[in-house]
Amino acid sequence: MAMEYSEKVMDHFMNPRNVGEIEDADGVGEVGNAKCGDIMKMYLKIEDDIITDVKFKTFGCGSAIATSSMATEMIKGKNIKEAAKLTNKAVVEALEGLPKIKIHCSVLAEQAIKAALADYYKSKGIDPEPILGKIPPAESCHIHD
Ligand code: FES
Repeated sequence: MAMEYSEKVMDHFMNPRNVGEIEDADGVGEVGNAKCGDIMKMYLKIEDDIITDVKFKTFGCGSAIATSSMATEMIKGKNIKEAAKLTNKAVVEALEGLPKIKIHCSVLAEQAIKAALADYYKSKGIDPEPILGKIPPAESCHIHD
């Protein structure tokens, strides 16, 4: 059965935004997807609590690339507290949907952003857990679709 992808998903898959890495990143997060074993790395540049730049790299499928591309666009220029509230659901909605069996791919982007924010908070001596909740370790990334 052929899978239906929205034009937005195809656009972000074919022309992903913010791919790469930031050498002097203020926060770096790496997570893995328990369902498929794919991994994602997210880099954040933060100034005065604002995300001034964000880049990602993934060994993930097309849906992971599209959701990460969209997620990075959605948090760029945002306050870190707002960025921490970004859910995979909101990203999927912004992409006008994903096939149900690909929803788990969108979790990678959300978790990688949270992991990068946690890294940032830790570098400032702040416990990230009360702000971000528990960040699952890379190999047991939580699936909520
Ligand atoms: Fe692994 Fe999509 S199948 S991230």
